[in-house]
Parts: sequence; C-alpha cells; structure tokens
Amino acid sequence: MSLAPTLTRIPYHLAIIMDGNGRWAKARGLPRLAGHRAGTENLRRTLKACVRHGIKILTIYAFSTENWGRPAEEVRGLMSILEQVIERELKELHEQGVRIRHVGRVEGISPRLLKKIEKAVELTKHNDTIILNVAFNYGGRQEIIDAVKRILQEAVPPDQVDDALLGQYLYTAGQPDPDLIVRTSGEMRVSNFLIWQGAYAELYVTPTYWPDFDESELQKALDHYAARERRFGLTAEQMKRLAGQGK
Ligand code: FPP
Repeated sequence: MSLAPTLTRIPYHLAIIMDGNGRWAKARGLPRLAGHRAGTENLRRTLKACVRHGIKILTIYAFSTENWGRPAEEVRGLMSILEQVIERELKELHEQGVRIRHVGRVEGISPRLLKKIEKAVELTKHNDTIILNVAFNYGGRQEIIDAVKRILQEAVPPDQVDDALLGQYLYTAGQPDPDLIVRTSGEMRVSNFLIWQGAYAELYVTPTYWPDFDESELQKALDHYAARERRFGLTAEQMKRLAGQGK
C-alpha cells in the first residue's frame, strides 16, 4: 500500500455523505425535493472548493440501493435532478477538468438516465483536475457481493485473493481509498457507504444539514483532518519512519 497521498495534510480523496436535505426543506416548510435541489447547488460549490484545496478525488453518496424504497415521487424527483444536472452542468464540468465516474450498480437505472451517465463518463475520461465519483444506485455490501461474484466467475485461485485483489474488483478499482469521510446532519453512521474502502478513513460528522455545508464548514472538516494522527494500525514511530521514506 502506498501511503504517499494519505500522509498529506489535505485529504487526497474526500468522500461525503450528503445527509439532511429533507430536514433542511422541512425546517423551511418546503417539499423534500426542494432540499435535494438546494443540496445539488451546494454540491457544485463544494466541488469547486475541493479543486481550490487540491483535493484530487471527491466521492459523493447521491443515491443508495436502499433509497429506491423512498416515496415514488421523491425517487422520480431524484432521478430527474440527476438527469437535469448532467444536461445542464456537463459542459462546464468538462471545461473545469472534472472526470466523472459512476460508482454503483448499473442494473435498475433507467436506460435513458444510464445513457446520460455513460456519456458524462466517456466525455470526461481524460480529465485530471479532480475525479468526481458519483455513488448512485450504490451499496457497499452490494459492491462487495458484485466483486466476489466476478472473482468466482473468473476462477481466481483462492491464494491470490487478498485486499489488493479485491480492491481491483470494486467500482472504485484503481483509485486510492478515501482519507476522510464527512457526514452532514449529525447521524453517526456509515450507512453502507464505502464500507471496504473506508476501513482506515478518518470520520468527521457535523450537525449541519448538507445544503448549509458551505466553504467554512468544509474548512472545519479539513482542519480536523489535518490535526488527526493516522496510524493504519501501526505505531506513531513506525508511521514517522514511513513518512521519512516517502512511503
Ligand atoms: C440525503 O438527505 C440525501 C440524499 C438521499 C440524496 C442526495 C442527493 C443530492 C444532493 C442530489 C444531487 C446528486 C447529484 C449526483 C446531482 P435526506 O433526504 O436523507 O435528508 P433527511 O435525512 O433530512 O430526510
């Protein structure tokens, strides 16, 4: 495992559970979808702020495999928000050098939306300012199940199965694990988000609802991260030695 990116004071890979859109809307007497729209606007601000901070990967939890169980109107609304965002923002995101990646299951997404997602992924595939992983129709357990199925289908010998190999079968294959996972709106749960990749991630939970998670809130999360001592199961002395070797 290369620790190079993970030992910097700015997270190389930031992941966010964007929670609290519904409560944000309710507090204002608005429908839940108004909260999701406000959350979407906040995402665009946050992405820009991440680029300014030099964060190289931002993974957002946009729609979980469990979210299909929400009221039909809300599910339809979230699908249409994603479609609209791709249509409205793709050109600008591409110009900004954002590489969009889909993290999640393809099965279950409507063919029309899937086509748009694939177009966004294809158009931006050579961009390198920042990777935006959109966890959509995503579940961490499902991701591990999908990985195990493919490993078995390919008849990989059991003695070759280790954490590096399994990582290559995840939706995030080829990317370093998240350094920091932020959850807004105060819940102390990971909710099936990056459960494999987040094994050593630092966690930061704020009571602020996602639409209100502005640049000063992001700065607070980054300050907390910078102050943490990460050890990956080793001792502080071993970590110092590794840092000295640039590993
Ligand atoms: C959680 O808030 C948020 C979601 C389930 C959806 C997040 C989606 C967006 C911000 C839309 C933008 C996404 C893209 C990719 C454009 P909640 O509804 O669970 O809030 P609550 O816990 O207060 O009810």
